[in-house]
Amino acid sequence: MLSPKSAATVSATLPAVGAAIGEITPLFYEKLFAARPELLRDLFNRGNQAVGSQQQALAGAIAAFAGHLLAHPDTRPDLLLTRIAHKHASLGVREDQYPIVHEHLFAALAEVLGDVATDEVVAAWDEVYWLMAHALIAIERRLCAAAGAADGTVWRTYRVAGRVQETADVATFFLRPVDGAPVPPHRPGQYVSVQVQLPDGARQIRQYSLSGQADGGLRISVKRVAAGPDGTPAGAVSGHLHDRVHGGETLRVSAPFGDVVLDDGPGPVLLASAGIGCTPMIGMLAHLAADASPRRVIAAHADRSPDSHALRTELVQLTGKLTGATAELWYEEGAAPDAAAPGPAPAVTVHGGRMDLTRLDIPAGTTAHLCGPVSFMKAVRAQLLASGVRPADIHHEVFGPDLGL
Ligand SMILES: Cc1cc2nc3c(=O)[nH]c(=O)nc-3n(C[C@H](O)[C@H](O)[C@H](O)COP(=O)(O)OP(=O)(O)OC[C@H]3O[C@@H](n4cnc5c(N)ncnc54)[C@H](O)[C@@H]3O)c2cc1C
Ligand code: HEM
Repeated sequence: MLSPKSAATVSATLPAVGAAIGEITPLFYEKLFAARPELLRDLFNRGNQAVGSQQQALAGAIAAFAGHLLAHPDTRPDLLLTRIAHKHASLGVREDQYPIVHEHLFAALAEVLGDVATDEVVAAWDEVYWLMAHALIAIERRLCAAAGAADGTVWRTYRVAGRVQETADVATFFLRPVDGAPVPPHRPGQYVSVQVQLPDGARQIRQYSLSGQADGGLRISVKRVAAGPDGTPAGAVSGHLHDRVHGGETLRVSAPFGDVVLDDGPGPVLLASAGIGCTPMIGMLAHLAADASPRRVIAAHADRSPDSHALRTELVQLTGKLTGATAELWYEEGAAPDAAAPGPAPAVTVHGGRMDLTRLDIPAGTTAHLCGPVSFMKAVRAQLLASGVRPADIHHEVFGPDLGL
């Protein structure tokens, strides 16, 4: 809880800090990476730094945390903290790195705020930082211990035991621990972080959702991020995996983390994905199928065309195994509108155009999981709310820094 003196100062300066935070965070990263270049090379995502999305995420999180402390002094914003802590744990962020971030963040804050940054103001924001940092450290410690990495060593070496080209730009990689020990337990919807050594010597880390467990190993499916027509470069890690990892290589892979997971309850579930957002949904469907779950399940997916829809066959097969499941597929091109898909699973309906969940009969009490581009998730969330799904029952996973929907 924030002390009353600091609460008054934070409340008085939140607008000024909020207005300046867009200037403070880039300066903070500039100072941090000047002093500790290895953090940019080996820990932070260089792509996110280039486009600024991580900077917005950090700034947004601190402002949201401060706002929460003022509005609800006796509670903690658990959803916000947990999501960051899972990401930190999967990256192997260490407790002794919090003072380093603090040093450079507060140097940037003092420089940008100038005269506003009196000793009293700095002390009050210092309290906010450490309340947040200690809360994150405590959750990260618990998560690592639960993942069998109490000493913070979340990384293990896996061999790429196989690779399957799913579509023109999506490949699945089968990962088996080289030590022969069992793969760590994970919950459906979780992800792992994967390290790769790039040709320029940088070690870059990205997250990939587990699309299931296969043959004593883990499975991830990776979409190649192509160079943009506006000159943006091709994705560094996805490109590396597609071009250089064909099977037999080793990769450092973290223990599974992630807070957007399928609940074990008996209620109806709706899984709505677009594009490569299908991966956590396939993990969830596989889990339900392995349990022969009688739950009512709607697996909704949108893609450009049947050919670009990765893991399509698996989605149809898993749906066919579940007595209470139907699949609803939307394709912008190449779909006969509203046709039942050919093949053994009559519970599959194909629609033309963009996903429109308001056309479906969504059972009362449905829990929804969304994954895909942010614009897709915003649209689908609005459709679900219009169909009577409670806001608290809608969960989403963002394949990048979560700036909120
Ligand atoms: C929880 C989670 C789960 C995920 N699950 C999956 C999954 O199952 N499958 C999957 O394929 N992906 C998944 N992702 C996304 C994945 O982690 C990577 O973000 C993705 O593979 C792109 O990484 P990259 O290194 O190839 O691209 P990056 O090199 O990081 O580039 C990303 C974007 O930034 C742009 N960019 C990079 N550098 C610059 C620059 N200098 N100037 C301008 N623009 C630039 C690039 O053009 C590109 O558009 C997940 C992400 C998260 C957070
Ligand atoms: C109170 C202090 C901190 C706050 C508020 C904070 C906040 C955040 C937030 C909001 C994200 C984005 C989460 C998401 O993906 O949705 C993030 C990611 C990250 N954080 Fe922190 N963080 C803190 C401390 C640290 C420290 C000490 C380190 C280690 C040096 C660190 C390293 C990272 C890295 C590497 C990422 C992922 C970056 C990326 O993928 O672009 N953070 N943090």
